[in-house]
Amino acid sequence: MAAQGPHHIVFANEKGGTGKSTTAVHVAVGLAMQGAKVACIDLDSRQRTLFRYLENRAATAARRDVDLPTPLFEALEQDSQDELEQQIARMGEGMDFLLFDTPGRDDPHARFVATMSDTLVTPINDSFVDFDLIGKVDAESFEVTKISFYAELIWEARTKRARQDGKSIDWVVLRNRMHNMEARNQQRVGSALDALAKRVGFRVIPGLSERVIYRELFPSGLTLLDKGHLGQLGTSHIAARQELRALISALHLKLAVDA
Ligand SMILES: Nc1ncnc2c1ncn2[C@@H]1O[C@H](COP(=O)(O)OP(=O)(O)OP(=O)(O)O)[C@@H](O)[C@H]1O
Ligand SMILES: [Mg+2]
Repeated sequence: MAAQGPHHIVFANEKGGTGKSTTAVHVAVGLAMQGAKVACIDLDSRQRTLFRYLENRAATAARRDVDLPTPLFEALEQDSQDELEQQIARMGEGMDFLLFDTPGRDDPHARFVATMSDTLVTPINDSFVDFDLIGKVDAESFEVTKISFYAELIWEARTKRARQDGKSIDWVVLRNRMHNMEARNQQRVGSALDALAKRVGFRVIPGLSERVIYRELFPSGLTLLDKGHLGQLGTSHIAARQELRALISALHLKLAVDA
């Protein structure tokens, strides 16, 4: 796989706080644990959540003197696109996967890497507030009435990519922070997503459930996959680990180690 360059996975949504960084970290660590060579670039130079998470992880490994599979990681170093391209080439060297976390706002680098992506993951929370960026629904019936600007932007990125090298982008909308309450709203958002998926051409996959542990692990940089390092975990965390594995497998990534 490395001979053709790494598979690019971009986590993007112009809406803030939808779970890009959390999902990106878990996917990156999960792939590294499966034996893949993984590197990450954090394009959110202000918040640097992914960078800081992995920095915390490296510090925990050193402090406890344990081996924690950790992807290579860097934050955006310079502001020019030329320099970003150089960073991409350098970080991607010999890697199976190169992941990008992007800011929750319109950003030129995020647009650029979206065009370069092989897999584009857009996490959204099960809410019509998040849905609004990709589609509009009727106020009474909740039927999809219109495609929104972000879906159009991704459409353009795909068209551009197809013109550039004939490759297609697998656009995956990931439903983050699902929970059992508000079942009716969840169902409505689900139906609207399915309807829009057909029109715009994305896939919908289940993401992470709403769990406090996803917020708690940041200071240590650990993930639910780090068995043996987390202390005593309840059974709900076993279910969480399961959903994490299901998420990674739903991305349909080809692991060189499987080949
Ligand atoms: N499944 C989850 N369960 C509980 N908390 C979550 C979950 N996913 C994300 N969070 C929390 O929600 C907040 C936003 O998540 P995150 O930082 O991953 O979003 P983001 O899309 O990267 O945000 P931004 O656009 O600001 O970069 C964080 O506090 C994170 O810990
Ligand atoms: Mg983020």
